[in-house]
Amino acid sequence: GRRKGTMIPVTAERAQPQREQSATLDQCRRCDLWRNATQAVPGVGPNTARIMLVGEQPGDQEDLQGLPFVGPAGAVLERALAEAGVERKAVYLTNAVKHFKWELRGKRRLHKTPAQSEIAACHLWLEEELERVKPQVIVALGSTALKSVLKNGSATMKDVMAAPFEHEGRWVVTVYHPSYVLRAPDQETRRQAYDVIVDGLRQALKLTA
Ligand code: URA
Repeated sequence: GRRKGTMIPVTAERAQPQREQSATLDQCRRCDLWRNATQAVPGVGPNTARIMLVGEQPGDQEDLQGLPFVGPAGAVLERALAEAGVERKAVYLTNAVKHFKWELRGKRRLHKTPAQSEIAACHLWLEEELERVKPQVIVALGSTALKSVLKNGSATMKDVMAAPFEHEGRWVVTVYHPSYVLRAPDQETRRQAYDVIVDGLRQALKLTA
């Protein structure tokens, strides 16, 4: 134990790895996405989380900040989590692909969907997170996440949307990606997509009970 009055080394304390992957992950060269990314973005959340949310890849803000779901999609997700009664801090949040893939459009870095080869190359890191956290339920946010979770590049969402199924000893709940709520063509579609996300999160919560 610590003696009374001993200085607590603040930096060492902070270095306590909540993000155990960060050093090695940032050096990952398993595909080429690192070249145009600012940094790799590891998952965040407690290693005891019973629910793991898997997104697609970091966006512009996530790439700059090094944290998942801190941009516009993250705001949608946060609202959905609150509405479903799932505490954000209690879940583990990560992405199928850890580096931002983008192309320049004017002055903006526009998201590009990762290739199957990139999803497969990055799967190792998701596997490490699954082994470490051992969640009871995985929520796959969108089709890239589903492909990675199932290790199947042909997996599609439509057969499994919002319908929990078992995979390798845990539950998988598939919902739309929160970005879809922001870019779907009409308001009705956006509202429906959002409702599916909230419903999926509620189901995930129930499955941990
Ligand atoms: N979209 C994702 O899939 N993940 C993020 O971290 C941010 C946006």
